[in-house]
Amino acid sequence: MKILFVCLGNICRSPLAEAIFNEKVRQRGLQKEFQSDSCGTGNYHIGDWPDGRAIKCAQKNNILINHLGRQLTRSDLEDFDLILAMDRSNLKNIFALANTETKSKVKLMRSYDPLGTGDVPDPYYGNEKDFDEVFEILDRSVEGLVKSF
Ligand code: 4NP
Repeated sequence: MKILFVCLGNICRSPLAEAIFNEKVRQRGLQKEFQSDSCGTGNYHIGDWPDGRAIKCAQKNNILINHLGRQLTRSDLEDFDLILAMDRSNLKNIFALANTETKSKVKLMRSYDPLGTGDVPDPYYGNEKDFDEVFEILDRSVEGLVKSF
């Protein structure tokens, strides 16, 4: 099962989601069952390390974040089994590259959040508290995702 986490810049939300997912999969000993990656719909941060605040947030929560920014491509929609958009704007941009068949693999990340729906808010222009909130949302959503298998 191949899962792709998608946001705009691929330096804040989606690399955090990927790192949280990898940790939960590792804790359950399910590494052989899953492959994961993340990317952005935008091209601003190709080849960049995650944002320093995302790295700090991951470290605070004992999560290893290890990713370089890359942009979503049409072939990602073929290659991955499940594509998770962080917000509705990402979803729209992913759909713009998708066909009827690949569209069915695309979902909002928070469709797995037991405590809420809608967007994982973009923390880029926010502060540490905003990153903490994003972490809580992602932790719940990824837990819901892992439990869904
Ligand atoms: P992300 O956050 O989509 O969660 O990685 C952002 C990162 C960069 C930008 C916007 C959002 N940007 O405009 O450069």
